[in-house]
Amino acid sequence: MHFSTAVSVLALAGSSLAANHTIRVGGQSASDLVFIPNNVTAAEGDIVIFKFWPKNHSIAQAAFAKPCEPLANGFWSGYVPTTDTTKAADMSYSFEVKNASQPIWFYCTQAQHCQDGMVGGINVATNGTGNTITKFIDAAKDASANVEPTATVGSGLSMTMANGTEMPSGSATGNAASPLEMSNLAMSGAFGMLAYLFM
Ligand SMILES: *[C@@H]1O[C@H](CO)[C@@H](O)[C@H](O)[C@H]1NC(C)=O
Ligand SMILES: *[C@@H]1O[C@H](CO)[C@@H](O)[C@H](O)[C@H]1NC(C)=O
Ligand SMILES: *[C@@H]1O[C@H](CO)[C@@H](O)[C@H](O)[C@H]1NC(C)=O
Ligand SMILES: *[C@@H]1O[C@H](CO)[C@@H](O)[C@H](O)[C@H]1NC(C)=O
Ligand SMILES: *[C@@H]1O[C@H](CO)[C@@H](O)[C@H](O)[C@H]1NC(C)=O
Ligand SMILES: *[C@@H]1O[C@H](CO)[C@@H](O)[C@H](O)[C@H]1NC(C)=O
Repeated sequence: MHFSTAVSVLALAGSSLAANHTIRVGGQSASDLVFIPNNVTAAEGDIVIFKFWPKNHSIAQAAFAKPCEPLANGFWSGYVPTTDTTKAADMSYSFEVKNASQPIWFYCTQAQHCQDGMVGGINVATNGTGNTITKFIDAAKDASANVEPTATVGSGLSMTMANGTEMPSGSATGNAASPLEMSNLAMSGAFGMLAYLFM
């Protein structure tokens, strides 16, 4: 009896402890090509929320070894243009971390933003000989191209909007001015629900 009570209390505590990690896409000035923070430690079940700032950024998932190229079946937000320097764009992008042991690397596909340091990582090594964000930034500088994901990555995924509406994937575009146009998202072992949130 005591055991099952303890288990339920732990289960409840576990679910209520799930945290949100907000990453600012774009710096204080529109010319600052950064994610803030550029490295996040997230537990399983935590939500990572990307909020977009000027001018016109995106997030695509990469492999550590190929900083400015889309990871096969990786995620891709499309572009979220915004000019208002006083607040984040209405549309944000988020996903749930499903496997905290699996590092997640990402970059902005716009122009040369990736090479200029607009890259980030979730659950990456923070020191030592592992794959750190510093090494990823250095590798990105040497990338020969900043590659935008194609429309066909991640077919088969449906995503859920903040209002509960499910959107099919596969509608092609490189511009997420409308959430309906967002495409190229994929579910991998590391991710749960992928969604655009209006907040
Ligand atoms: C995380 O964000 C969602 C959506 O805004 C919110 O409903 C939830 O309460 C937040 N969780 C925490 C722990 O702040
Ligand atoms: C990792 O993010 C923290 C903020 O959470 C920041 O202070 C630190 O400089 C970042 N590390 C690197 C190597 O950029
Ligand atoms: C945002 O950037 C994309 C890719 O460069 C471009 O196709 C799109 O037209 C831009 N949107 C705006 C509003 O500038
Ligand atoms: C979580 O990620 C690690 C590292 O990539 C992997 O070894 C492990 O199999 C993954 N676990 C699940 C349940 O997918
Ligand atoms: C080094 O990294 C490990 C694993 O990421 C972490 O647990 C440890 O706190 C870090 N040590 C320092 C001094 O930052
Ligand atoms: C949810 O939001 C999407 C995107 O704005 C919209 O297309 C859809 O009609 C909305 N659904 C409901 C039930 O409001």
